[in-house]
Amino acid sequence: MTGAVRSPWWRHAVIYQIYPRSFADSDADGVGDIRGICTRLDYLQALGVDALWLSPIFRSPMCDAGYDICDYLDVDPLFGSLDDLDSLIDQAHRRGLKIILDFVPNHTSDQHPWFMSSRASRDSDKRDWYIWRDQPNNWRAAIGGGSAWSWDEQSQQYYLHFFLPQQPDLNWQNPQVVAAMHEVLRFWLDRGVDGFRVDVVHCIGKDPHFADDSRCLAGEAMVHINDQPYSHEILRGLRRLVDSYSPGRVLIGEVNIRSTRQVAAYYGASDELHMSFNFPPLDANWDPVIFRLCIREVESELGPLQAWPTWVLSNHDNSRHRTRYGGSELRARAAAVLLLSLRGTPFIYQGEELGLEDVLVDAQTRVDPGGRDGSRAPIPWTLRPPHGWAGGSTWLPFAPQAGASSVQAQSGQAGSVLELYRRLIACRRASLALTTGAWQELPSHPQVLAYRRWCDDDERVVCINFSDTEQVFALSGQWQVQLASDRQGEGCPFTGRLAGEQAVILYRGRHDNELASDHDHLPD
Ligand code: NOJ
Repeated sequence: MTGAVRSPWWRHAVIYQIYPRSFADSDADGVGDIRGICTRLDYLQALGVDALWLSPIFRSPMCDAGYDICDYLDVDPLFGSLDDLDSLIDQAHRRGLKIILDFVPNHTSDQHPWFMSSRASRDSDKRDWYIWRDQPNNWRAAIGGGSAWSWDEQSQQYYLHFFLPQQPDLNWQNPQVVAAMHEVLRFWLDRGVDGFRVDVVHCIGKDPHFADDSRCLAGEAMVHINDQPYSHEILRGLRRLVDSYSPGRVLIGEVNIRSTRQVAAYYGASDELHMSFNFPPLDANWDPVIFRLCIREVESELGPLQAWPTWVLSNHDNSRHRTRYGGSELRARAAAVLLLSLRGTPFIYQGEELGLEDVLVDAQTRVDPGGRDGSRAPIPWTLRPPHGWAGGSTWLPFAPQAGASSVQAQSGQAGSVLELYRRLIACRRASLALTTGAWQELPSHPQVLAYRRWCDDDERVVCINFSDTEQVFALSGQWQVQLASDRQGEGCPFTGRLAGEQAVILYRGRHDNELASDHDHLPD
Protein backbone atom coordinates (compact mmCIF):
# COMPACT_ATOMS: atom_id res chain seq x y z
CA MET A 1 0.00 0.00 0.00
CA THR A 2 1.40 3.39 -0.89
CA GLY A 3 0.03 6.81 0.00
CA ALA A 4 -1.18 9.37 -2.51
CA VAL A 5 1.00 12.36 -3.38
CA ARG A 6 0.43 15.81 -4.85
CA SER A 7 1.87 15.50 -8.25
CA PRO A 8 3.66 17.02 -11.23
CA TRP A 9 1.86 16.63 -14.58
CA TRP A 10 3.56 13.42 -15.64
CA ARG A 11 2.32 11.57 -12.58
CA HIS A 12 -1.30 12.03 -13.56
CA ALA A 13 -0.74 11.90 -17.33
CA VAL A 14 -1.52 9.31 -19.95
CA ILE A 15 1.34 9.24 -22.45
CA TYR A 16 0.84 8.18 -26.07
CA GLN A 17 3.72 6.74 -28.08
CA ILE A 18 3.81 7.85 -31.69
CA TYR A 19 5.87 5.75 -34.06
CA PRO A 20 6.13 8.52 -36.67
CA ARG A 21 6.71 6.45 -39.78
CA SER A 22 3.42 4.61 -39.18
CA PHE A 23 1.21 7.27 -37.69
CA ALA A 24 0.02 9.62 -40.46
CA ASP A 25 1.40 10.68 -43.83
CA SER A 26 1.14 14.21 -45.25
CA ASP A 27 3.21 13.89 -48.43
CA ALA A 28 1.93 10.62 -49.91
CA ASP A 29 5.26 8.77 -49.82
CA GLY A 30 3.83 5.92 -47.75
CA VAL A 31 5.86 6.91 -44.69
CA GLY A 32 4.33 8.89 -41.84
CA ASP A 33 5.76 12.32 -41.01
CA ILE A 34 5.56 15.26 -38.63
CA ARG A 35 3.01 17.23 -40.65
CA GLY A 36 0.92 14.07 -40.67
CA ILE A 37 1.00 14.08 -36.86
CA CYS A 38 -0.15 17.73 -36.91
CA THR A 39 -3.22 16.73 -38.94
CA ARG A 40 -4.25 14.23 -36.27
CA LEU A 41 -3.99 16.35 -33.15
CA ASP A 42 -7.79 16.57 -32.94
CA TYR A 43 -7.90 12.79 -32.71
CA LEU A 44 -5.28 12.69 -29.96
CA GLN A 45 -6.98 15.43 -28.02
CA ALA A 46 -10.32 13.68 -28.27
CA LEU A 47 -8.68 10.47 -27.09
CA GLY A 48 -7.74 12.43 -23.98
CA VAL A 49 -4.00 11.77 -23.75
CA ASP A 50 -1.72 14.35 -22.13
CA ALA A 51 1.62 13.87 -23.86
CA LEU A 52 3.04 12.49 -27.09
CA TRP A 53 6.32 10.60 -27.10
CA LEU A 54 7.77 10.54 -30.63
CA SER A 55 10.12 7.70 -31.55
CA PRO A 56 13.21 9.24 -33.23
CA ILE A 57 12.68 11.78 -36.00
CA PHE A 58 16.33 12.87 -36.28
CA ARG A 59 18.64 12.55 -39.28
CA SER A 60 19.49 8.92 -39.74
CA PRO A 61 20.50 6.34 -42.36
CA MET A 62 17.56 4.34 -40.88
CA CYS A 63 19.42 1.07 -40.36
CA ASP A 64 17.51 0.77 -37.06
CA ALA A 65 14.48 2.88 -37.97
CA GLY A 66 16.01 6.11 -36.68
CA TYR A 67 17.67 4.73 -33.53
CA ASP A 68 20.91 5.21 -35.49
CA ILE A 69 21.30 8.98 -35.48
CA CYS A 70 23.77 10.88 -37.64
CA ASP A 71 22.64 14.36 -36.57
CA TYR A 72 20.98 14.85 -33.18
CA LEU A 73 20.14 18.45 -33.97
CA ASP A 74 18.10 18.10 -37.13
CA VAL A 75 15.00 16.33 -38.40
CA ASP A 76 15.36 13.64 -41.04
CA PRO A 77 13.85 14.78 -44.37
CA LEU A 78 11.78 11.57 -44.33
CA PHE A 79 9.83 13.08 -41.44
CA GLY A 80 9.95 16.76 -42.46
CA SER A 81 12.01 19.68 -41.20
CA LEU A 82 12.98 21.45 -38.03
CA ASP A 83 10.28 24.01 -38.83
CA ASP A 84 7.71 21.22 -38.96
CA LEU A 85 8.81 20.02 -35.55
CA ASP A 86 8.70 23.54 -34.10
CA SER A 87 5.21 23.86 -35.49
CA LEU A 88 4.16 20.53 -33.96
CA ILE A 89 5.53 21.58 -30.57
CA ASP A 90 3.65 24.85 -30.83
CA GLN A 91 0.35 23.34 -32.00
CA ALA A 92 0.53 20.58 -29.40
CA HIS A 93 1.24 23.07 -26.62
CA ARG A 94 -1.67 25.23 -27.65
CA ARG A 95 -3.89 22.20 -27.14
CA GLY A 96 -2.34 21.38 -23.79
CA LEU A 97 -0.42 18.38 -25.16
CA LYS A 98 3.21 17.88 -24.12
CA ILE A 99 5.91 16.69 -26.51
CA ILE A 100 8.54 14.15 -25.47
CA LEU A 101 11.39 13.33 -27.84
CA ASP A 102 13.42 10.14 -28.00
CA PHE A 103 17.00 10.74 -26.84
CA VAL A 104 19.46 8.03 -27.92
CA PRO A 105 22.59 8.45 -25.78
CA ASN A 106 24.19 5.00 -25.98
CA HIS A 107 25.17 4.97 -29.63
CA THR A 108 25.21 7.07 -32.78
CA SER A 109 25.03 6.03 -36.40
CA ASP A 110 28.32 4.98 -37.97
CA GLN A 111 27.57 7.87 -40.37
CA HIS A 112 27.66 10.45 -37.58
CA PRO A 113 30.57 12.87 -38.17
CA TRP A 114 31.84 12.02 -34.67
CA PHE A 115 32.26 8.36 -35.59
CA MET A 116 33.57 9.11 -39.08
CA SER A 117 36.27 11.19 -37.46
CA SER A 118 36.84 8.60 -34.72
CA ARG A 119 37.47 5.80 -37.20
CA ALA A 120 39.51 7.94 -39.60
CA SER A 121 42.64 7.61 -37.51
CA ARG A 122 43.85 6.46 -34.13
CA ASP A 123 45.08 10.03 -33.63
CA SER A 124 41.67 11.60 -34.20
CA ASP A 125 40.50 13.91 -31.43
CA LYS A 126 37.27 11.88 -31.55
CA ARG A 127 39.01 8.49 -31.26
CA ASP A 128 38.17 8.15 -27.57
CA TRP A 129 34.55 9.23 -28.10
CA TYR A 130 33.85 5.58 -29.02
CA ILE A 131 35.14 2.30 -27.61
CA TRP A 132 38.07 0.79 -29.49
CA ARG A 133 40.01 -2.36 -28.59
CA ASP A 134 42.69 -4.55 -30.12
CA GLN A 135 40.87 -7.69 -29.01
CA PRO A 136 37.13 -8.26 -28.74
CA ASN A 137 35.61 -9.95 -25.69
CA ASN A 138 32.59 -12.27 -25.82
CA TRP A 139 29.85 -9.62 -25.59
CA ARG A 140 26.96 -10.12 -27.98
CA ALA A 141 24.91 -7.55 -29.88
CA ALA A 142 21.23 -7.24 -29.00
CA ILE A 143 20.14 -7.12 -32.64
CA GLY A 144 21.26 -10.07 -34.72
CA GLY A 145 22.93 -11.82 -31.80
CA GLY A 146 26.45 -11.74 -33.28
CA SER A 147 29.52 -10.27 -31.66
CA ALA A 148 29.14 -6.80 -30.21
CA TRP A 149 32.51 -5.90 -31.81
CA SER A 150 33.24 -5.10 -35.43
CA TRP A 151 36.64 -4.87 -37.04
CA ASP A 152 37.54 -1.54 -38.61
CA GLU A 153 39.86 -2.12 -41.53
CA GLN A 154 40.93 1.49 -41.77
CA SER A 155 42.17 1.96 -38.22
CA GLN A 156 42.87 -1.72 -37.50
CA GLN A 157 40.91 -2.07 -34.27
CA TYR A 158 37.55 -3.37 -33.09
CA TYR A 159 34.77 -0.99 -32.05
CA LEU A 160 31.93 -1.83 -29.68
CA HIS A 161 28.27 -1.82 -30.74
CA PHE A 162 25.59 -3.22 -28.43
CA PHE A 163 23.15 -3.12 -31.35
CA LEU A 164 23.89 -3.15 -35.11
CA PRO A 165 27.43 -2.64 -36.44
CA GLN A 166 26.02 0.63 -37.84
CA GLN A 167 25.37 1.79 -34.24
CA PRO A 168 28.76 2.27 -32.53
CA ASP A 169 28.56 2.82 -28.76
CA LEU A 170 29.69 6.16 -27.39
CA ASN A 171 32.22 6.33 -24.59
CA TRP A 172 30.42 8.16 -21.78
CA GLN A 173 33.58 8.06 -19.67
CA ASN A 174 34.94 10.75 -21.93
CA PRO A 175 33.81 14.15 -20.52
CA GLN A 176 33.67 15.59 -24.04
CA VAL A 177 30.96 13.07 -24.94
CA VAL A 178 29.02 14.01 -21.82
CA ALA A 179 29.31 17.70 -22.70
CA ALA A 180 28.29 17.13 -26.32
CA MET A 181 25.22 15.17 -25.26
CA HIS A 182 24.27 17.85 -22.75
CA GLU A 183 24.35 20.30 -25.65
CA VAL A 184 21.95 18.03 -27.54
CA LEU A 185 19.46 18.11 -24.65
CA ARG A 186 19.80 21.87 -24.29
CA PHE A 187 19.13 22.35 -27.99
CA TRP A 188 15.76 20.60 -27.69
CA LEU A 189 14.83 21.97 -24.28
CA ASP A 190 15.44 25.46 -25.63
CA ARG A 191 13.00 24.65 -28.45
CA GLY A 192 10.36 23.88 -25.84
CA VAL A 193 10.16 20.09 -25.63
CA ASP A 194 8.76 18.75 -22.38
CA GLY A 195 11.17 15.92 -21.90
CA PHE A 196 12.85 12.84 -23.25
CA ARG A 197 12.38 9.13 -23.39
CA VAL A 198 15.97 7.97 -22.96
CA ASP A 199 16.86 4.95 -25.07
CA VAL A 200 18.59 1.97 -23.36
CA VAL A 201 19.94 4.33 -20.74
CA HIS A 202 21.34 1.53 -18.57
CA CYS A 203 23.74 0.72 -21.41
CA ILE A 204 25.77 3.90 -21.17
CA GLY A 205 27.83 2.50 -18.28
CA LYS A 206 30.01 -0.41 -19.37
CA ASP A 207 32.11 -2.76 -17.30
CA PRO A 208 35.38 -0.78 -17.20
CA HIS A 209 37.37 -4.04 -17.28
CA PHE A 210 35.61 -5.32 -20.40
CA ALA A 211 35.64 -8.78 -18.87
CA ASP A 212 34.10 -11.71 -20.72
CA ASP A 213 30.61 -12.29 -19.45
CA SER A 214 29.54 -15.89 -18.91
CA ARG A 215 25.86 -14.92 -19.20
CA CYS A 216 26.39 -13.86 -22.81
CA LEU A 217 26.67 -17.52 -23.63
CA ALA A 218 23.46 -18.32 -21.80
CA GLY A 219 21.57 -15.82 -23.97
CA GLU A 220 21.24 -13.19 -21.26
CA ALA A 221 23.58 -10.84 -22.98
CA MET A 222 24.35 -7.48 -21.52
CA VAL A 223 22.03 -7.10 -18.56
CA HIS A 224 24.82 -7.76 -16.12
CA ILE A 225 27.53 -5.77 -17.85
CA ASN A 226 25.21 -2.86 -18.42
CA ASP A 227 24.14 -2.22 -14.86
CA GLN A 228 27.16 -0.16 -13.82
CA PRO A 229 27.53 2.40 -11.03
CA TYR A 230 28.84 5.17 -13.25
CA SER A 231 25.59 5.21 -15.28
CA HIS A 232 24.04 6.76 -12.19
CA GLU A 233 26.56 9.59 -12.09
CA ILE A 234 25.80 10.33 -15.72
CA LEU A 235 22.08 10.27 -15.02
CA ARG A 236 22.43 12.70 -12.15
CA GLY A 237 24.17 15.07 -14.57
CA LEU A 238 21.33 14.74 -17.09
CA ARG A 239 18.75 15.29 -14.37
CA ARG A 240 20.48 18.45 -13.10
CA LEU A 241 20.46 19.79 -16.62
CA VAL A 242 16.78 19.02 -17.21
CA ASP A 243 15.80 20.39 -13.80
CA SER A 244 17.60 23.64 -14.56
CA TYR A 245 14.82 24.36 -17.08
CA SER A 246 11.28 25.33 -16.14
CA PRO A 247 9.60 22.78 -13.89
CA GLY A 248 7.80 19.90 -15.48
CA ARG A 249 10.46 18.69 -17.92
CA VAL A 250 10.78 14.95 -17.59
CA LEU A 251 13.30 12.16 -18.16
CA ILE A 252 11.76 8.75 -18.82
CA GLY A 253 14.37 6.04 -19.11
CA GLU A 254 14.27 2.79 -20.97
CA VAL A 255 16.00 0.60 -18.39
CA ASN A 256 15.77 -2.73 -20.11
CA ILE A 257 16.78 -4.79 -17.11
CA ARG A 258 14.45 -7.59 -16.13
CA SER A 259 14.53 -6.82 -12.42
CA THR A 260 12.23 -4.22 -10.89
CA ARG A 261 14.67 -3.83 -7.98
CA GLN A 262 17.50 -2.88 -10.35
CA VAL A 263 15.17 -0.61 -12.31
CA ALA A 264 14.21 1.18 -9.07
CA ALA A 265 17.84 2.21 -8.59
CA TYR A 266 17.64 4.33 -11.75
CA TYR A 267 15.33 6.79 -10.00
CA GLY A 268 18.25 7.54 -7.64
CA ALA A 269 17.31 9.65 -4.65
CA SER A 270 14.82 11.53 -6.85
CA ASP A 271 17.89 12.84 -8.67
CA GLU A 272 18.10 10.51 -11.67
CA LEU A 273 15.19 9.43 -13.88
CA HIS A 274 11.76 10.90 -13.17
CA MET A 275 10.27 7.65 -14.45
CA SER A 276 11.55 4.42 -15.85
CA PHE A 277 10.01 1.76 -18.04
CA ASN A 278 9.81 -1.56 -16.26
CA PHE A 279 9.89 -4.58 -18.52
CA PRO A 280 8.59 -7.53 -16.46
CA PRO A 281 4.91 -6.51 -16.90
CA LEU A 282 5.53 -5.89 -20.61
CA ASP A 283 6.92 -9.42 -20.89
CA ALA A 284 4.06 -10.98 -18.92
CA ASN A 285 1.53 -13.30 -20.51
CA TRP A 286 -2.18 -12.83 -19.83
CA ASP A 287 -1.79 -14.56 -16.49
CA PRO A 288 -3.13 -13.25 -13.17
CA VAL A 289 -0.35 -14.92 -11.20
CA ILE A 290 2.37 -13.18 -13.17
CA PHE A 291 0.61 -9.80 -13.18
CA ARG A 292 -0.09 -10.01 -9.45
CA LEU A 293 3.61 -10.64 -8.80
CA CYS A 294 4.70 -7.84 -11.15
CA ILE A 295 2.36 -5.32 -9.52
CA ARG A 296 3.31 -6.34 -5.98
CA GLU A 297 6.95 -6.02 -6.90
CA VAL A 298 6.46 -2.55 -8.37
CA GLU A 299 4.62 -1.47 -5.23
CA SER A 300 7.20 -2.93 -2.87
CA GLU A 301 10.33 -1.83 -4.78
CA LEU A 302 9.27 1.59 -6.06
CA GLY A 303 6.72 2.60 -3.45
CA PRO A 304 9.09 3.13 -0.49
CA LEU A 305 11.41 5.19 -2.72
CA GLN A 306 8.55 7.45 -3.83
CA ALA A 307 9.61 6.39 -7.32
CA TRP A 308 6.67 6.78 -9.67
CA PRO A 309 5.88 3.64 -11.73
CA THR A 310 5.05 3.35 -15.42
CA TRP A 311 2.88 0.75 -17.13
CA VAL A 312 3.31 -0.38 -20.72
CA LEU A 313 1.66 -3.30 -22.49
CA SER A 314 2.81 -2.64 -26.06
CA ASN A 315 5.53 -0.74 -27.90
CA HIS A 316 7.40 -0.72 -31.19
CA ASP A 317 9.88 -3.40 -30.07
CA ASN A 318 7.43 -6.10 -29.06
CA SER A 319 4.49 -7.94 -30.43
CA ARG A 320 1.28 -6.01 -29.68
CA HIS A 321 -0.32 -7.19 -26.44
CA ARG A 322 -3.57 -8.19 -28.14
CA THR A 323 -1.57 -10.60 -30.30
CA ARG A 324 0.61 -11.74 -27.40
CA TYR A 325 -2.45 -12.42 -25.26
CA GLY A 326 -3.96 -14.65 -27.95
CA GLY A 327 -5.89 -12.26 -30.19
CA SER A 328 -9.12 -12.04 -28.18
CA GLU A 329 -10.77 -8.62 -28.20
CA LEU A 330 -12.41 -9.25 -24.83
CA ARG A 331 -9.02 -9.88 -23.29
CA ALA A 332 -7.50 -6.79 -24.92
CA ARG A 333 -10.39 -4.75 -23.48
CA ALA A 334 -9.83 -6.12 -19.99
CA ALA A 335 -6.10 -5.39 -20.38
CA ALA A 336 -6.95 -1.75 -21.19
CA VAL A 337 -8.77 -1.46 -17.86
CA LEU A 338 -5.71 -2.87 -16.10
CA LEU A 339 -3.30 -0.51 -17.89
CA LEU A 340 -5.35 2.58 -17.13
CA SER A 341 -6.23 1.86 -13.52
CA LEU A 342 -2.89 0.91 -11.97
CA ARG A 343 -0.85 3.29 -9.82
CA GLY A 344 1.63 4.83 -12.21
CA THR A 345 1.76 6.55 -15.58
CA PRO A 346 0.29 4.47 -18.42
CA PHE A 347 1.83 4.54 -21.89
CA ILE A 348 -0.40 3.73 -24.85
CA TYR A 349 1.32 2.57 -28.01
CA GLN A 350 -0.36 4.01 -31.12
CA GLY A 351 -2.99 1.62 -32.45
CA GLU A 352 -3.57 -0.28 -29.23
CA GLU A 353 -6.56 2.01 -28.67
CA LEU A 354 -7.91 0.52 -31.92
CA GLY A 355 -7.32 -3.03 -30.70
CA LEU A 356 -4.82 -3.60 -33.51
CA GLU A 357 -3.05 -6.91 -33.84
CA ASP A 358 0.39 -7.54 -35.33
CA VAL A 359 0.79 -7.57 -39.08
CA LEU A 360 2.36 -10.71 -40.52
CA VAL A 361 5.32 -9.66 -42.61
CA ASP A 362 6.83 -12.11 -45.07
CA ALA A 363 10.53 -12.38 -45.80
CA GLN A 364 10.32 -10.09 -48.87
CA THR A 365 8.44 -7.32 -47.05
CA ARG A 366 10.53 -7.50 -43.90
CA VAL A 367 12.22 -4.21 -43.03
CA ASP A 368 13.56 -4.47 -39.49
CA PRO A 369 16.77 -6.49 -39.03
CA GLY A 370 15.53 -7.21 -35.50
CA GLY A 371 12.28 -8.83 -36.73
CA ARG A 372 10.04 -6.27 -35.00
CA ASP A 373 7.91 -5.19 -37.96
CA GLY A 374 4.77 -6.89 -36.59
CA SER A 375 3.78 -4.06 -34.26
CA ARG A 376 4.87 -1.27 -36.62
CA ALA A 377 2.10 -1.37 -39.26
CA PRO A 378 0.50 1.94 -40.34
CA ILE A 379 -2.52 3.26 -38.46
CA PRO A 380 -5.72 2.72 -40.47
CA TRP A 381 -7.58 6.04 -40.35
CA THR A 382 -10.44 5.32 -42.71
CA LEU A 383 -12.63 2.33 -43.40
CA ARG A 384 -11.66 1.77 -47.01
CA PRO A 385 -8.17 1.29 -48.46
CA PRO A 386 -5.84 3.12 -48.53
CA HIS A 387 -7.12 3.87 -45.01
CA GLY A 388 -6.26 7.56 -44.94
CA TRP A 389 -2.84 7.08 -46.49
CA ALA A 390 -2.25 8.09 -50.12
CA GLY A 391 -2.66 5.36 -52.74
CA GLY A 392 0.36 3.28 -53.65
CA SER A 393 2.01 1.34 -50.95
CA THR A 394 2.78 2.13 -47.36
CA TRP A 395 6.22 1.23 -46.03
CA LEU A 396 4.67 -1.78 -44.25
CA PRO A 397 1.31 -3.42 -44.98
CA PHE A 398 -1.69 -2.76 -42.71
CA ALA A 399 -2.54 -5.03 -39.81
CA PRO A 400 -5.38 -7.55 -40.27
CA GLN A 401 -8.96 -6.15 -40.19
CA ALA A 402 -7.61 -2.67 -40.96
CA GLY A 403 -10.98 -1.37 -42.20
CA ALA A 404 -13.00 -2.64 -39.26
CA SER A 405 -10.42 -1.43 -36.75
CA SER A 406 -9.94 1.95 -38.43
CA VAL A 407 -10.48 5.18 -36.55
CA GLN A 408 -13.39 5.98 -38.86
CA ALA A 409 -15.11 2.66 -38.18
CA GLN A 410 -14.74 2.94 -34.41
CA SER A 411 -15.23 6.64 -33.67
CA GLY A 412 -18.50 7.27 -31.92
CA GLN A 413 -19.36 3.53 -31.84
CA ALA A 414 -20.34 2.94 -28.25
CA GLY A 415 -18.98 -0.62 -28.05
CA SER A 416 -15.70 -0.09 -29.89
CA VAL A 417 -12.24 -0.53 -28.39
CA LEU A 418 -11.49 3.10 -29.27
CA GLU A 419 -14.47 4.35 -27.28
CA LEU A 420 -13.45 2.11 -24.38
CA TYR A 421 -10.01 3.77 -24.30
CA ARG A 422 -11.60 7.22 -24.50
CA ARG A 423 -13.95 6.44 -21.64
CA LEU A 424 -11.20 4.85 -19.57
CA ILE A 425 -8.91 7.85 -20.00
CA ALA A 426 -11.76 10.22 -19.11
CA CYS A 427 -12.68 8.11 -16.09
CA ARG A 428 -9.06 8.11 -14.92
CA ARG A 429 -8.66 11.83 -15.48
CA ALA A 430 -11.78 12.55 -13.43
CA SER A 431 -10.67 10.58 -10.40
CA LEU A 432 -7.79 11.39 -8.07
CA ALA A 433 -8.14 7.86 -6.74
CA LEU A 434 -7.31 6.43 -10.17
CA THR A 435 -4.55 8.86 -11.04
CA THR A 436 -2.36 9.50 -8.04
CA GLY A 437 -4.31 7.64 -5.38
CA ALA A 438 -3.03 4.79 -3.25
CA TRP A 439 -3.18 1.14 -4.31
CA GLN A 440 -4.04 -1.94 -2.29
CA GLU A 441 -4.62 -5.49 -3.43
CA LEU A 442 -7.90 -7.11 -2.38
CA PRO A 443 -8.33 -10.81 -1.65
CA SER A 444 -9.95 -12.59 -4.59
CA HIS A 445 -10.22 -15.82 -6.55
CA PRO A 446 -6.81 -16.64 -8.11
CA GLN A 447 -8.19 -15.87 -11.59
CA VAL A 448 -9.40 -12.45 -10.48
CA LEU A 449 -7.06 -9.54 -9.86
CA ALA A 450 -8.74 -6.99 -7.63
CA TYR A 451 -7.46 -3.80 -6.06
CA ARG A 452 -8.61 -0.65 -4.37
CA ARG A 453 -7.51 2.84 -5.38
CA TRP A 454 -8.31 5.78 -3.17
CA CYS A 455 -7.56 9.40 -2.39
CA ASP A 456 -9.40 11.14 0.44
CA ASP A 457 -13.04 10.13 0.01
CA ASP A 458 -12.70 9.23 -3.67
CA GLU A 459 -12.50 5.46 -3.83
CA ARG A 460 -12.57 2.90 -6.66
CA VAL A 461 -12.29 -0.84 -6.82
CA VAL A 462 -11.00 -2.52 -9.96
CA CYS A 463 -11.55 -6.22 -10.65
CA ILE A 464 -10.24 -8.07 -13.65
CA ASN A 465 -11.33 -11.59 -14.47
CA PHE A 466 -8.46 -13.21 -16.34
CA SER A 467 -10.41 -16.44 -16.97
CA ASP A 468 -12.94 -16.98 -19.75
CA THR A 469 -15.58 -18.23 -17.31
CA GLU A 470 -17.74 -16.31 -14.84
CA GLN A 471 -16.15 -15.63 -11.45
CA VAL A 472 -17.58 -14.33 -8.21
CA PHE A 473 -15.94 -11.45 -6.41
CA ALA A 474 -17.32 -10.65 -2.99
CA LEU A 475 -17.09 -7.05 -1.84
CA SER A 476 -18.77 -5.60 1.20
CA GLY A 477 -20.82 -2.42 0.88
CA GLN A 478 -22.84 -0.95 -1.96
CA TRP A 479 -20.82 -0.48 -5.14
CA GLN A 480 -21.87 0.74 -8.57
CA VAL A 481 -20.32 -0.34 -11.84
CA GLN A 482 -18.83 2.83 -13.24
CA LEU A 483 -17.21 1.24 -16.27
CA ALA A 484 -17.10 -2.31 -17.62
CA SER A 485 -14.73 -3.54 -20.33
CA ASP A 486 -17.72 -5.12 -22.13
CA ARG A 487 -20.19 -2.40 -20.97
CA GLN A 488 -22.32 -5.04 -19.21
CA GLY A 489 -23.84 -3.78 -15.99
CA GLU A 490 -22.55 -0.21 -16.30
CA GLY A 491 -24.43 2.25 -14.12
CA CYS A 492 -25.99 -0.63 -12.12
CA PRO A 493 -25.21 -1.91 -8.62
CA PHE A 494 -22.36 -4.44 -8.66
CA THR A 495 -23.73 -7.97 -8.25
CA GLY A 496 -20.43 -9.64 -7.39
CA ARG A 497 -20.42 -11.57 -10.66
CA LEU A 498 -17.78 -11.01 -13.30
CA ALA A 499 -18.35 -12.39 -16.78
CA GLY A 500 -15.45 -14.22 -18.47
CA GLU A 501 -12.60 -11.82 -19.26
CA GLN A 502 -14.57 -8.90 -17.93
CA ALA A 503 -12.95 -6.03 -16.05
CA VAL A 504 -14.89 -3.45 -14.08
CA ILE A 505 -14.25 -0.21 -12.24
CA LEU A 506 -16.57 0.23 -9.25
CA TYR A 507 -17.25 3.34 -7.24
CA ARG A 508 -19.07 4.67 -4.27
CA GLY A 509 -18.88 8.25 -3.01
CA ARG A 510 -18.71 11.46 -4.94
CA HIS A 511 -19.51 11.97 -8.61
CA ASP A 512 -16.94 12.39 -11.31
CA ASN A 513 -17.76 16.01 -12.05
CA GLU A 514 -16.84 17.09 -8.58
CA LEU A 515 -13.60 15.14 -8.81
CA ALA A 516 -12.68 16.69 -12.14
CA SER A 517 -12.46 20.12 -10.56
CA ASP A 518 -10.02 18.82 -7.92
CA HIS A 519 -7.85 17.43 -10.65
CA ASP A 520 -7.70 20.74 -12.50
CA HIS A 521 -6.13 22.34 -9.45
CA LEU A 522 -3.20 19.99 -9.18
CA PRO A 523 0.12 21.84 -9.41
CA ASP A 524 2.42 20.98 -12.32
C1 NOJ B 1 15.57 0.47 -27.88
C2 NOJ B 1 14.65 0.91 -28.97
O1 NOJ B 1 13.33 0.92 -28.48
C3 NOJ B 1 14.85 -0.03 -30.12
O2 NOJ B 1 13.88 0.15 -31.13
C4 NOJ B 1 16.23 0.13 -30.66
O3 NOJ B 1 16.48 -0.84 -31.65
C5 NOJ B 1 17.28 -0.03 -29.54
N1 NOJ B 1 16.93 0.63 -28.34
C6 NOJ B 1 18.60 0.52 -29.99
O4 NOJ B 1 18.53 1.92 -30.05
